[in-house]
Amino acid sequence: MSAPTTVREPMTKTALRAATDLGYKSFTAGKFTFERDEYFAHITFPGGRHIMAVDAFLRALMRDVAWGFFYGTVNFDNVFGTGNHYGTVERVAGLFNKAYKDANRHYVEKFQSKDLKATFEAMLDDWTNEGFDPFAAPEETGRPFGPKKGNNTAAVQRQRVVAQRMVGIKGDTPHRSDAAGFPVNRQFVDVPQDEPEIHAEPGFEGEVHAFNLYGYLSRSDVTWNPSVCAGVKDSLMCPTTEEYILPIIHGNDRVEWFIQASDEIIWDIDDKNTGAPVAKVTMKAGDVAAMPANIRHRGYSPKRSMLLVWENNDGRLPSMYAKQELKPYPVEF
Ligand code: PHB
Ligand code: FE
Repeated sequence: MSAPTTVREPMTKTALRAATDLGYKSFTAGKFTFERDEYFAHITFPGGRHIMAVDAFLRALMRDVAWGFFYGTVNFDNVFGTGNHYGTVERVAGLFNKAYKDANRHYVEKFQSKDLKATFEAMLDDWTNEGFDPFAAPEETGRPFGPKKGNNTAAVQRQRVVAQRMVGIKGDTPHRSDAAGFPVNRQFVDVPQDEPEIHAEPGFEGEVHAFNLYGYLSRSDVTWNPSVCAGVKDSLMCPTTEEYILPIIHGNDRVEWFIQASDEIIWDIDDKNTGAPVAKVTMKAGDVAAMPANIRHRGYSPKRSMLLVWENNDGRLPSMYAKQELKPYPVEF
């Protein structure tokens, strides 16, 4: 079959007018346009158009914004996403999709990260209705559909926890408590809340620290949001609580380690560039996995679970993997 010679108009005039009548703003970033209606996000780019369910779109957009485009690629689905070049960011349509690539129908445009982030933040704020929290599990939030109704600015501007040394150290990001507005989640009521005793040698009182990570995570009010809870140089411990589906499909530009700290997550692992299926991985409490540098992955957590994501923040890694100076996996058995 030959490629179509005409490109359809992005949306019909009637649909466009309806979108505006619903009260939502439309956005442009370079040659991309973004519109939302009651159920969908509509994206156009030179040579194509794309559609996504608006709940899935907002959940993905929330992560992309809050994580500053994350490591590697943030695929909103198998067509649309961003590629982080740390300072600049590429907006991609079909770049990591074999059919688009083979038909030469993909489109890529580069932005200054701060400019695209500003557009995304404005879109997220305008398109998120009152009562819908894109960071919350679907069971714990309202619906995003329908005409524009208020907003949820406090939720979409949440700052990700980034500890400089460790949660709870003097001057660093604090513990969570009822008093601070972080009650224990409904699915973690069985998690012990006692804190470890610290007996430091004289003179080392300010240097030794420990806290109950399970207790801390049981009080997380968000899902699928790895947060830096301890850091030593480039070694970042990013635990997170998961429920339902990871809203993005993450394409790695380095190896990431996963430690399943409670319950169970099932992962789809696909080829980073083509999206071809590579593996299904079921991780049960206590399982450890190294996610290779040449894959994309998406997790499914049937019940709220705890996952420790261990990131290597060394900025030299992406080009070393891209040039194949390093193997895409960290161990050989
Ligand atoms: C990942 O892509 O590695 C990832 C992202 C968010 C999570 C967990 C894992 O909550
Ligand atoms: Fe990942």
